Amino acid sequence: MAIPPGAVIPGALPDFRIYVLTSQGTYTLWALEGNKVSAEQLARLAEGGYTEVYVDLEAQFKYEQYLESNLGSILENRAASDDQKAEIFSKVSANVVKGAFETSLGLGAMGAVAIQRTQKLIENALKFIVESKSLQALAKMVGHDYQTYEHATKVLWFTVAFLRLNPEILEQIEPGHPAFDESRRMETLRQCAVGALLHDIGKAFISQAILTKTGPLTEVEWEIMKQHPLNGLAMLIDTDIPAFVKKAVLHHHEDFHGGGYPMSLEGSNITTLARVLRIVDVFDAMTSRRPYKDPMPPKKAMEIMIGTPADREGDEDPAQDERDKGMQRCFDRELLKKFIVFLGDVKLDA
Ligand SMILES: [Fe+2]
Repeated sequence: MAIPPGAVIPGALPDFRIYVLTSQGTYTLWALEGNKVSAEQLARLAEGGYTEVYVDLEAQFKYEQYLESNLGSILENRAASDDQKAEIFSKVSANVVKGAFETSLGLGAMGAVAIQRTQKLIENALKFIVESKSLQALAKMVGHDYQTYEHATKVLWFTVAFLRLNPEILEQIEPGHPAFDESRRMETLRQCAVGALLHDIGKAFISQAILTKTGPLTEVEWEIMKQHPLNGLAMLIDTDIPAFVKKAVLHHHEDFHGGGYPMSLEGSNITTLARVLRIVDVFDAMTSRRPYKDPMPPKKAMEIMIGTPADREGDEDPAQDERDKGMQRCFDRELLKKFIVFLGDVKLDA
């Protein structure tokens, strides 16, 4: 199986053998499993004009695990081309999402074809991230906290799949754009993918101790946590990312009925993409394993988000986490209804 040399990080310890293909058409062992590959070795490989190295097919799983655990370094690897990075990223994120759909969310959420089509789009979105100078920020997040990366990846996939099926929402995302033809639609979708992936990038500034804390946050910790949308914007301000995406990063914790952070905006003052991200972000957080609780079944998460009658009457559910209460005021109800229809369409197991 051919792999890009850019995936091999100097100093990392691959758990598989790597081969090169000689001009005679034979595979020669280049690196042994469990051995560090040196920067000199990689430089010689580049000098020799090798654009691919090879891994045993049986080692595919180990190779994928290696990619997953070294993703942050790979994105920062100067020896890897931007195309290689985009390809590796989309491959790893597809695996993360497939794994999540198969385990916690139930199978059937996305068929193989949908995954393939979405993967292509995400690859393009990542190419844009590379071009727009925000790759460093992304690499920082991936390297800092894997859980945030995993969450961002799922939010990315849900957002893209949801907006693809709801073109009328997509059209509201860039209001005032005169020609909303197919190519414009795809471009907007790609930009939304970028926003979804980067929405929590400001968490790269928050210490692991706070991000993974199991108990309730103290007032000070909470204040630090609330700075992540602003820090995210700061990380992206000098990039070529469009203004509506930067705004969505800044506003993804604003509540539709007010009281969110950082600015306590309300209703249509919160951009459409930020309102979509608010929904997808919360849904994924509730249905994922969090440091302080087990994943919740999708149906239960939806009930809490929409506010069941019992919830509205103040009927206490002991299983409900304190942090999830009174949630329905956070969302644009019309968008939330469409998201729930979408989840029904993708046949999530209850
Ligand atoms: Fe966030």
